[in-house]
Amino acid sequence: MTDTPTIRWEQDDTGVVTLVLDDPHQSANTMNQAFRDSLAVITDRLEAEKDGIRGIILTSAKKTFFAGGDLRDLIRVTPETAQDLFDGGMAIKRQMRRIETLGKPVVAAINGAALGGGYELALACHHRIALDAPGSRIGCPEVTLGLLPGGGGVVRTVRMLGIADALLKVLLQGTQYTPRRALENGLVDDVAGTREELIAKARAFIDAHPESAQPWDRPGHRIPGGTPSHPKFAANLPAFPANLRKQTNGAPYPAPRNILAAAVEGAQVDFETAQVIEARYFVELAAGQTSKNMIQAFFFDLQAVNSGANRPRGIEPRKVARVAVLGAGMMGAGIAYSCARAGIDVVLKDVTPEAAAQGKAYSEKLCAKAVSRGRTTQAKADALLARITPTADAQDLAGCDAVIEAVFEDTALKHKVFQEIQDVVAPDALLCSNTSTLPITALAEGVERQSDFIGLHFFSPVDKMPLVEIIKGGQTGDEALARAFDLVRQINKTPIVVNDSRGFFTSRVIGHFINEGVAMVGEGIEPASVEQAAAQAGYPAKVLSLMDELTLTLPRRIRNETRRAVEEAGGTWTAHPAEAVVDRMVDEFGRPGRSGGAGFYEYDEEGRRTRLWPGLREHFADPGLRESDLTELKERMLFVEALDSVRCLEEGVLVSVADANIGSLLGIGFPGWTGGVLQYVNGYEGGLPGFVDRARELAERYGERFTPPALLVEKAERGEVFTDAR
Ligand code: NAI
Repeated sequence: MTDTPTIRWEQDDTGVVTLVLDDPHQSANTMNQAFRDSLAVITDRLEAEKDGIRGIILTSAKKTFFAGGDLRDLIRVTPETAQDLFDGGMAIKRQMRRIETLGKPVVAAINGAALGGGYELALACHHRIALDAPGSRIGCPEVTLGLLPGGGGVVRTVRMLGIADALLKVLLQGTQYTPRRALENGLVDDVAGTREELIAKARAFIDAHPESAQPWDRPGHRIPGGTPSHPKFAANLPAFPANLRKQTNGAPYPAPRNILAAAVEGAQVDFETAQVIEARYFVELAAGQTSKNMIQAFFFDLQAVNSGANRPRGIEPRKVARVAVLGAGMMGAGIAYSCARAGIDVVLKDVTPEAAAQGKAYSEKLCAKAVSRGRTTQAKADALLARITPTADAQDLAGCDAVIEAVFEDTALKHKVFQEIQDVVAPDALLCSNTSTLPITALAEGVERQSDFIGLHFFSPVDKMPLVEIIKGGQTGDEALARAFDLVRQINKTPIVVNDSRGFFTSRVIGHFINEGVAMVGEGIEPASVEQAAAQAGYPAKVLSLMDELTLTLPRRIRNETRRAVEEAGGTWTAHPAEAVVDRMVDEFGRPGRSGGAGFYEYDEEGRRTRLWPGLREHFADPGLRESDLTELKERMLFVEALDSVRCLEEGVLVSVADANIGSLLGIGFPGWTGGVLQYVNGYEGGLPGFVDRARELAERYGERFTPPALLVEKAERGEVFTDAR
């Protein structure tokens, strides 16, 4: 038996070689240097001992099959080192190719997650069997990190599934399939229920296919569905760029474009040339800024946030068994569902039994939908619903070890509902409020155990939105913070932790985005251009439509309250140019937003948006205005949010860079290609100094809100970037 550092060679007396991926230094197998060296040794040996080999099984000794490229290496690639990445990648591809064309059957016994490079390894095998393990996922998610599968994933999926299916099912969305769904979509050939069955099936394939070759290495192979040179296919080709534009909304995501190019160009040439084309497009992405932004945010920052970088140390993790949700309205109903889905018993309280039942009906609707789409079973849905007890009686909350309040946004009412229940629930129950605007420190004054009181800000719709903003009030204790963190993780959401402040982090920052869009209307900029700029910057919702959804009156009320508070504290209030626009829209034109039937948009009788209100041009247009520069409009939106996030860091509202990035991406729709509000600053052309210069230009043109905060200027001068690394 020969051992190489990360791949174990196990040969039985029937001539079957099992290659066991087992990196001794890591919990998962990755495409690191040790793997590359091992693969070279293994490939040579397979060729040398070919005659005594009947077949090969590739599997892993880890929980996952293979984790793919090492992102720590990839994030460091620069244009100068890009050629090394290309050469290294091609070397691996050549070795995989040598195994693929050895003439012996090669089976991937996928015993756990095979994503990215892991699935690419499996693609180089002649037969793929996946163990149907819970949580196991299969696919090519590279696009979600601004990359493409550069280990033959594009070349092989195109040849296996055809260009259209490869693009739509595997490459462009980066879908991560369960083993069963992977089978249905043709990503794997078979599934197995147990590890023993997995290996038995692999052996059976080898027995039945003594000589094996990939379909694309057999004479006469044609790419399913045809290639772009085929007249029928060519007729469909123009739809691809259109679909791409739909996916990216015109925002600067280079990966989908490169994936499309690698797939289409690669389909028209031989396999080896296609591999080189794929490698070139991959390296271009890896050396670019967008993949660095996305890897930083969606891999490293997300991991830091979820693993508890901000959770107080030394406090035993706790699980909630029974939660009281106060208020069964839109948010309460969603929170109840999310908790019940995670196995927590929920007592859902509203003022009347009917209102509480109505809140539970929301879960019933979601469960019915999930069952009808095959996403859950009836039994699981029934169990989930059985965990939710609707009530109007405070006594039913006895024994609850956590409370999440989601009644109307009114301090006195919130104080009252906590008074009602604080002696009924468990004596040390965690007390949370889902307020979206009221300062937590002041709300805490309404309860007896102030150190157990904390803000848990969910986003709507709760069942879909992955983020929860945890707000630490002035009196909140570390124990409560740790428990709140554990509760958010228990319901499978991502917690960011911020200190109390008006609008916390997310509401405050998104307010700047909305105000900037509204201010543009006030400047007389064509409203359609404002909307287009938001879309092209990559925001999921256009800015004026978002304002209409929120209603113009709500931010106006908050603004007036804030102004009063600032003035009472002896400060001076600087009016934002958006304020005058909102005031005119509400007072002069009677257009308070969508719920009032009219706002920046017009709505039909069913409340559907029809078109931008033509009056905007009439009343706000500035005939002397030069044609608006979309790039500048986009930057203004991105900059106001980024600049205020820096202020949040400076003021201690934010305590970590990862929280800022993840909170902005998952909570308020800051565009994904930026890697989040602070990564956007890091990655801006010219780095922090470039960002500072541009902010100063914008400040000169549009006002003080663009003036770079001292923290930013100092960091730029010191040559630093925003990072949590110490
Ligand atoms: P909602 O108006 O849909 O629901 C409020 C519910 O509280 C109603 O069902 C009402 O009957 C109930 N309620 C009133 N008094 C009560 C009492 N004494 N005991 C029990 N229940 C009582 O409001 P929504 O949108 O669900 O908001 C609730 C809270 O969540 C507010 O503080 C809001 O600011 C916050 N929030 C809202 C978000 C949103 O997108 N709507 C996002 C994040 C937070």
